[in-house]
Amino acid sequence: MTSSSHLAVASAFAAAVLTLPSLIAQTPPPLRADAPAGAVPPPWVYTINTPVPPGAPAAPADDTPRSVPGSTVRLTRAQLGDLFNPPDWRPENHPPAPEVVAHGRKPDVRACGYCHYPNGQGRPENSSLVGLPAAYIVQQMADMRAGLRRSADPNMRPPAAMLAIAKASTVEEDRAAADYFASFAYRKWIRVVETPTVAKMKIAGGVFVPIVGDGAGTEPIAGRIIETPEDVARAEVRDSGSGFIAYVPPGSIRRGEALVTTGGGTRTIACGVCHGADLKGLGAVPPLAGRSPSYTVRQLFDLQHGTRRGPWAPLMRAAVQKLTLDDMVAIAAYTASREP
Ligand code: HEC
Ligand code: HEC
Repeated sequence: MTSSSHLAVASAFAAAVLTLPSLIAQTPPPLRADAPAGAVPPPWVYTINTPVPPGAPAAPADDTPRSVPGSTVRLTRAQLGDLFNPPDWRPENHPPAPEVVAHGRKPDVRACGYCHYPNGQGRPENSSLVGLPAAYIVQQMADMRAGLRRSADPNMRPPAAMLAIAKASTVEEDRAAADYFASFAYRKWIRVVETPTVAKMKIAGGVFVPIVGDGAGTEPIAGRIIETPEDVARAEVRDSGSGFIAYVPPGSIRRGEALVTTGGGTRTIACGVCHGADLKGLGAVPPLAGRSPSYTVRQLFDLQHGTRRGPWAPLMRAAVQKLTLDDMVAIAAYTASREP
């Protein structure tokens, strides 16, 4: 998929970077102001939790075991927050998971199944891992560990947490997780809805949730993608059986289809050449169909701005370099609407 000389240069570079961990640490280069998608990471995909107003009452201590529809599992609030023994409401919806996915390794390798869910379906503030090629997963972990892949917004907490995990995990752990997630299929669980208006939302747990009571109402979608749980209560307890709705601007799916399938003249290049005819992936190139459009916009933005620049990223350069934010939204609306 890329020339061996290029890979050799890239891995020599990665090795050099690896020996200088202090240099790659906390000084992200400024994002290019002349990039067609702008210099500012859009806050509606690089989600940061809405601050809780000072003096707001804390949630009452409550140890009543919780349940979700169709599961006999019962979990307390403390159990729901255990990063080394994540909630698994539906052990029947995935094969037995390896140690790193089910429990991680203390103190720094949090269980992959916590954020990405035990069945790898993932959430908008992270990503779906199930059904990705194993070689691709291993490469992404290596890129993050080498400082070649990070989020354009270092203040968004989940990607920062992911980076810390990739730096602490071993290649053997990466492979175990990769083989697991590659061994079964992603299933559609995002419903893409075109709409001129959306409910006013706040961000909690990394995702948009409608405001209820004071401040509730609707507002124009204004070019954004707003991804929100189908059922807020079930998402709050990390139910891997309850998916998301992605609200997208009117007309974006058709506009995205034209860009994805034809390249839109010289705007981009048709994606199917590498990502497979139905965007279901090809070899080590990841599938795009049916996956979170918020995640997709973040990746297109990161690739355009060079914060994602692993050895395989140059293959994406011609596809992303001229895209505006509106193009990215349209593309992501279309790819998310496809059958995985
Ligand atoms: C604290 C939450 C969290 C945990 C735990 C976590 N991840 Fe992630 N992961 C993320 C986030 C957030 C992203 C998306 C980053 C972004 O938007 O750029 C991500 C992205 C990824 C990706 C990139 C997917 C793609 O399509 O390119 C891989 C691979 C990955 N994680 C693997 C793992 C593995 C393996 C583990 C366990 C060792 C793990 N993650 C544990 C939060 C987490
Ligand atoms: C020449 C081959 C090629 C073409 C054409 C191409 N891609 Fe990619 N794409 C890749 C490769 C290789 C990667 C993995 C990059 C990496 O490892 O950083 C990738 C990664 C991505 C990712 C990140 C996926 C993830 O799980 O994180 C997205 C999103 C993406 N491509 C979208 C597109 C879209 C949309 C188009 C068309 C407009 C497109 N690509 C065209 C090869 C290609």
